[in-house]
This record gives sequence, C-alpha cells and structure tokens, in this order.
Amino acid sequence: MEFFLDTGIVAEIKEAVQLGIIDGVTTNPSLIAKTGRNQKDVIKEISGIIDGPISAEVIATDFEGMLIEGEDLAKIHSNVVIKLPLTEAGIAACKRFSQKGIKTNVTLCFSVNQALLAAKAGATYISPFIGRLDDIGQNGNDLIGEIRSLYDNYGFKTKILAASIRHAAHVRESALLGADVGTMPLSVVKALYKHPLTDKGLETFLADHKKANS
Ligand code: G3P
Repeated sequence: MEFFLDTGIVAEIKEAVQLGIIDGVTTNPSLIAKTGRNQKDVIKEISGIIDGPISAEVIATDFEGMLIEGEDLAKIHSNVVIKLPLTEAGIAACKRFSQKGIKTNVTLCFSVNQALLAAKAGATYISPFIGRLDDIGQNGNDLIGEIRSLYDNYGFKTKILAASIRHAAHVRESALLGADVGTMPLSVVKALYKHPLTDKGLETFLADHKKANS
C-alpha cells in the first residue's frame, strides 16, 4: 500500500518525508485554503520536497474550465496529478486527460457506480471518502472492498486511493481490503507506529541492557 500525505502544509510534508515511508501528497481546496497561500505556489514547493504523485484539484465545475485549469496545473511539474470532482464534467475531463497521458485523481467518490465511471474514463486514481461515509452512519470501508471487487472483476487499472482517513483503524481496514493507496494526515501516519507493547518491550530491553552493563 502506498502512503500519501493529505495536506498542503509544507512543514508537515518535510517532516513526513524524513520518515521514509511517504510516497506522495494529496491536496484539496480546503487543505490549500488552510495554508493561506496560492495553490500553484504550494504545489510547486511540494514538488521540490517529494518525488512522487502530488494531487492538485481544479476549482472549475465546467468541462472547458476543468481542462484549462488542469492543463495549467499539470505544467507545474510532471508529478502533478489532476484532481477532478466526480461529476459529469469531471468524468468527461478525466477521459480527456487520460487520452493525453495526464494523470488524474477522481475525488468525492461515495458509491461503486461512481467508481465504475471513473475507471471507465481511465482515471489513474479513484478517491472514495471513507471518513465522510462513516460520518453519515455508513461503513466507508465497505465501499473500498466493493470497489476492489469491481475493479478486479473487470481488470480496471485505476488505483483505489482510500481518502478521508481519520484514524489508524481506517488504514488497517482499507489496507486489508486491498486499497492501493491511503491518503492521511501526518497525525494518522504517526499513530500507525504506536503499540503499548512496543513501548513496554523497548523499556524492558533498555533497562535490562543498562543493568547488565552497569
Ligand atoms: O483529500 C480528501 C480527503 O482526504 C478529505 O478528508 O477528513 O476532509 O473528509 P476529510
């Protein structure tokens, strides 16, 4: 499973890269707004920090606008992946970008049928939002499993990017269900390392070593 960091905050990306297990970055308009910076500047800076896919989302909601904006974002760096909303215009733009060899991430996916549309349009990634489904009382990870079956049934190459990951259990479950990628905040990445028995075991090893060598 690849790990993407879900943030526009450069300091967090720098910190995460040091961990040695981050493969890319995803952003969205809300995450860019939190930085208080211009989207292109942020994406450009990120491309100098990490050598992996960086999702940058279009703001346009019409087909032509998405094409113009996406082409513009794609020029920033060859690692930029154009993030498109799962709408009629977004799927049509996805098809066009895919024909041009430009990578895409179709976002705001909440159903198997939507994931089917994205795969048919040649999306590089589909982003099911598991946390937001949990928020409305559904099991977000069920959707990951269903999309996995669907894509495997037909041999679709679109990668399943589990998004809206809020905690470590989301990572565990989506990984076991076969998500290709998980995008998550730095706090969730850090939570993955934690186990009380690891801490306790290490404490004992160090104490024993100290006793034996004093
Ligand atoms: O990048 C999209 C997604 O990960 C957003 O997560 O927590 O705002 O639902 P969240």
